[in-house]
Amino acid sequence: MNLNIVVLAAGQGKRMNSTKPKVLHNVGGKPILQHVLDTAKKIKPNKLAIVYGHNGEIVRDTIDKLNPDNNFIWVKQNEQLGTGHALKEVLPCLDSTGHTLVLYGDVPLISEATIRSMLNKYRNNVIMLTQYTSNPYGYGRVIRDFSSKIEKIIEENDANCDQKAISEINTGFYVFPNKYLSNWLGSLSNNNQQQEYYLTDVINIAYLAGFLIDSVQTSTPYEALGVNNKQQLVELERIYQSLQVQKLLNNGVTLMDGSRIDIRGEIIVGVDCVIDVNCIFEGKVILGDQVAIGAGSILKNVTVHNGVNIKPYSIIEDAIIGNGCQIGPFSRVRPGSEFGESVHIGNFVETKRSKIGKNTKVNHLTYIGDAEIGSKVNIGAGCVTCNYDGTNKFNTLIEDEVFIGSGTMMVAPIIVKKGGVIGAGSTITKNTPENQLTIARSKQVTVEGWVKHHKKITG
Ligand code: UD1
Ligand code: CA
Repeated sequence: MNLNIVVLAAGQGKRMNSTKPKVLHNVGGKPILQHVLDTAKKIKPNKLAIVYGHNGEIVRDTIDKLNPDNNFIWVKQNEQLGTGHALKEVLPCLDSTGHTLVLYGDVPLISEATIRSMLNKYRNNVIMLTQYTSNPYGYGRVIRDFSSKIEKIIEENDANCDQKAISEINTGFYVFPNKYLSNWLGSLSNNNQQQEYYLTDVINIAYLAGFLIDSVQTSTPYEALGVNNKQQLVELERIYQSLQVQKLLNNGVTLMDGSRIDIRGEIIVGVDCVIDVNCIFEGKVILGDQVAIGAGSILKNVTVHNGVNIKPYSIIEDAIIGNGCQIGPFSRVRPGSEFGESVHIGNFVETKRSKIGKNTKVNHLTYIGDAEIGSKVNIGAGCVTCNYDGTNKFNTLIEDEVFIGSGTMMVAPIIVKKGGVIGAGSTITKNTPENQLTIARSKQVTVEGWVKHHKKITG
């Protein structure tokens, strides 16, 4: 049977107090709406429509970029006249038969299993996802009739005291038969406190038409949590993070504190990894076996091989770190850095678009950019690959077993040939030969007869 999914994402999100559309705020580094779409895609509907709003082009652009081969149907709701109105705008795009699952784009943690249990219950009727909660404030309340059948939904703003005391809430997920939707949505009115066309009123219309409104309950309470304000956003972020932490711990990672880690993407771990407090993982991070990550480190799109020790406060992005490397403390490894086995990158060392070979050491206060460095190279403190002339970038090649003395400037393009030694304080502007000592600095002089001035004391 045809299954359509509609995600409602056009609301302005006034309560967020933000210029950014509500559904683009992140949970776990990913827009709220993208969470809903990722789950929706797993259900494999034959149509997936998203309702976006006035000024919502940024929603469409952002989501299209995140889903390069999507075939979403984008439907613009020019005026946000309510959730019922939003669904009505999509009707022309839906199949005339089959059923439609409606999801709210601001409820990100809904699970595939819960959605599937709703779809499994569908028998050409209406299915709602509801939840019992001790804090129903803000949600629509589910009103059941004398025989406990769902009769209608009353919004918080329209509810009387007795209704407000009801603990069963509407989560905003429904399955409807397509055949009747146009009729039901056509008879909505906006005669309510918010003067909106509520989708929730369809429930009563279907009930009065003799349809059974069946319900499924969420298996975990967080699934129904919506984001309407920054308070709820931060609560959801914490819930999402604790779920990621549970997964990590199940995979055998040792965390020094499960409440002081943030995963804003995907992290894949080997055995016996240890992560100290306040680390942030973004994008896709792959850790091999026995990787140790020191406090306050940030890793984004990084592959770290076995036995690597990342010492505290290191920032590593778009990089590959070979077996047994030692990084940090306070290292900045920028995009395009690739380290072979047992490379040491020390404190206040910055690397960018550079390959560094096996057993090479760059331990202190150095910048390596647009460079290729061989194996067993030792780079002293305070060296710079001068790769930029203000217009263009140039490459530096440092071959195997080179020793670069401290304070050396290598003005690219330059090649330091195998086994060469560069004297400390050199400014190297020409390629240097194999196995030779090269020094390029002004000669030290001591000025004969020089006398120190003494300050005159006046008055
Ligand atoms: C809605 C439900 C409420 C339920 C709660 C669950 C209605 C009337 N109320 O309330 O019963 O308990 O969700 O989270 O449906 N949207 C549009 N166009 C609009 C208005 C809203 O696309 O004109 C979208 C929003 O972007 C949002 C979703 O619909 O993703 C829900 O809208 P929102 O205003 O957040 O409804 P709630 O007050 O949370
Ligand atoms: Ca909401």
